[in-house]
This record gives sequence, structure tokens and C-alpha cells, in this order.
Amino acid sequence: MGGKKIAVIGSGGREHALGESLAKSDEVAQVIYMPGNAGTASENKASNYLKSFIKPESFPDFLKFIQSEGIDLVVVGPEDPLNNGIVNYLNSQGYNRAFGPTKEATQLESDKFYSHDLMKELGILQAISTKCHSTAEAAEAIKHFHSEGIVIKARGLTAGKGVTVCDSKKEALEELTKHADAYGQEVLIAERLFGEEFSIFGISDGNRVLPIGISFQDHKPLLDGDKGPNTGGMGAYGPAPIAPLHVVNCVANKIMNPIVQRMKERGHEYKGFLYAGMMMTKDGPKVIEFNARFGDPECQPAMMMLKNGLYAPLSLALEGKLDEIKLEIKGGAACCVVLASQGYPGDYKKGLEIKGLAEVASMQNVKVFHAGTAFAGEDKKIVTAGGRVLGVTAYSADGIIDAKTTAYAAASKIAVEGGWAIRSDISDKATNR
Ligand code: AMP
Ligand code: GLY
Repeated sequence: MGGKKIAVIGSGGREHALGESLAKSDEVAQVIYMPGNAGTASENKASNYLKSFIKPESFPDFLKFIQSEGIDLVVVGPEDPLNNGIVNYLNSQGYNRAFGPTKEATQLESDKFYSHDLMKELGILQAISTKCHSTAEAAEAIKHFHSEGIVIKARGLTAGKGVTVCDSKKEALEELTKHADAYGQEVLIAERLFGEEFSIFGISDGNRVLPIGISFQDHKPLLDGDKGPNTGGMGAYGPAPIAPLHVVNCVANKIMNPIVQRMKERGHEYKGFLYAGMMMTKDGPKVIEFNARFGDPECQPAMMMLKNGLYAPLSLALEGKLDEIKLEIKGGAACCVVLASQGYPGDYKKGLEIKGLAEVASMQNVKVFHAGTAFAGEDKKIVTAGGRVLGVTAYSADGIIDAKTTAYAAASKIAVEGGWAIRSDISDKATNR
């Protein structure tokens, strides 16, 4: 057994799943979540440190913590600290064990013009788009666009909200000012693509990307049948039949590898998780966007599909040596069903007691990853503390139908006053084909 301490920055289901996978590695003695949630605090080999290290002002305190605790590896979950330069700061102070892209490399997610130009340069298929610096320019671009279906995309980070999909030029022109008021005037005017979406994930060591050898599908809309408002994601599963292994390998070899290699040539070496949001169009797979982090909730089923803990691959990635390892994936499938607060993604109550967690903890091949949870009162009851509360995730060697059935059976045992917002069709795209 090793004695390494790991710090995981973030508090969602993705961070819970990443930390759990790291804790599985024999080298790891302790995972410290910053700030984590009620679920992460309750894990083996784990504790929470109740400080947020997202803003640049907090980075010097974080470095002191790393030094006093002897942290071997830092894993950054969300995009905000990456975009604020947390990895740049730590590297500049001589600490080079922070896994995640620098601010410059994070531009792949944080600047849609940057990723657009890079893909264009490399001949990677994407929606045909025009970069616009003002609303007037965007209106002109829409009027002269080659297709009726148009997508308006904010240039910068918008927590996944700055995309408006329109059926016609008329609608796009009507939406433009509202979009600019909310997310700024700099936008990509993009051709609307049609097809099924899927996500591919990889680990980059700056030179190459080691793919997680299966595809996933998120379920962003709140209601069954992809109806209702968009959320952070109401569930995810993998592998997704729309993108079998040869498609995963094609995305890794023909899209992700060239991207990180060209970024290195530009002086923006990319080390970290790389997320390709894809659409299977009638002309083949096209890129919708890149993210500089793991997907949430895709990370929850992804971690249940890995045979081994994440410590070795992340450590080797930091050393630029991913050619020395393969990621082994289990057969079968995993399905994550999100239990969200009633009212989410709008207003919702917090502080409601969650019941039934102990019973589910004894179920085989089920893991409840926490997101918006906290402790309350002297008896430390677990209560709701966010929109997306839990990601009930099941693995089955027998495939997706069994994984889905088990995930919903587990979810039905977890109760809250007034009930959950929950979809009943997570993973149905795999079976209704
Ligand atoms: P993004 O933040 O770029 O992933 O966009 C959010 C969502 O908007 C995607 O998951 C798609 O459902 C949709 N979207 C983005 N770009 C396009 C496009 N060019 N065509 C159709 N839908 C799109
Ligand atoms: N799964 C969507 C996201 O993480 O952005």
C-alpha cells in the first residue's frame, strides 16, 4: 500500500466519481475533496476540506495546503479554476503535479473562436460557422447564411447555457439581442447539425490522448423524450451504440490526437481530461464542442466501467508517458440516473432530508455519487443542498438493460419530501433502435 495524498477540486458528482476511482488505486492513502459534499466525506480513505479554490486570490493558500499536507497529485474537476489559471499558478511555483490544462490550453473550451480555428486548420469536421465580434456582424452573418437552421454560440464560458438553437433565420435574428444581453456580443453563428449526440473522453499527456474506450450519452433536457428546459444533465450511460469502438478510436486518432499535437506546436501544451462533444450526422461524426474537463454526469458511469483506479494513468500523463499504459474497460454497461430537486433547473428548496441511502449502499454494483448534498444538525443528517442532488449509478456485466433496471431500482429506494425530479428514460436511446 502506498501513502499518497490526492486533492480533488470541486463538489459535484463528477468529482465524487473521480475521487472514488483514485481511491481504488493501491498507491493512494487519502483523497481530500475541496470542498466536496456529504457523500465524499463519508467515503473510505477520504475527507473534505471546506474551502473553495476556484478564484485566483485563493491559489496561494492552496499551495500552502499542498506543501503542508504533502499532496502528491491535484486533480481539477470543473472548468472555472482551470480557466482562472490554477495549473499555471502551481507550475509557476514549482509544483508540477496538478492534472488539468493550463489557462492557455483551456481555451479549447473557454474560447469557441480558438477551437473553431484549430479544427479548421486541421480539417476536422465541425458545423460551418462564422466568427462575429458584434451583434451587427452577427445579424449580417445570419442574413447571408447558407442554411435556415442556425445556432448562436457565445464565444466564452457560460456554464453550458450560451447556445441558442434556431429553426430559421427569422428566429435567429429575433433571438440575437436576447442572447447578446445574456452572454455578450461575440458569437459564432453556426450551421445547425442534425443527428444523435455522443461524448468521447480521453486523458492527454501533452503528446497524445489515451481514450476511455467507450462512448457515452448525456441527457440534458429535464423531461422524458428530451423535452423541457436544459439542465446540467439528468443522466448518462455508456457504451452508446451510436458510437462503437471504431468510432471512439477514430475520434481519438483523427480528432483528439491532432488537436493536442497542434496545441503543443502552438505552445499550449494540453495535459488533462479532454472531452469531445460529438454529433453523428448523415455525413459522419462532427464535433459540436470540446471541453477541458470530464463530463458530468458522464464521468459517473465512466468510472464504473474502468477496471483499475485512475492514479497510474493520471500520474503517467503528468510525466508525458501515456504510451506506457492502456486503460482497461469492463464488458457490459453502466447507467447513471440523476435525482434532482423539484423545481430544478429553476428555484428549488434546500435542506430536505434524504432517506434510504443506507439501504442502497448495500446493493451490489450500485454506487450513489453525491452532488448537491450536505450534513445538517447534530446527528449529521444528509440533506439536499443543490439542484442535481445524487447520481444513482449501476454497472452490469449483462449490458445496458440490466444496468438501467438496477439503477432505477436503487433510485426508487431513495426518498425526499415532495419527491424528486427524475427522468424515466435514461439509456433508452441504446435500446429503442
Ligand atoms: P455546446 O455547449 O456547444 O455543447 O452546445 C450545447 C448543446 O447545443 C449541444 O449539446 C447541442 O445539443 C446543441 N448544439 C450546439 N451546437 C450545435 C449545432 N451546430 N447544431 C445543432 N445543435 C447544436
Ligand atoms: N455532460 C455535459 C457537461 O459536462 O458539460
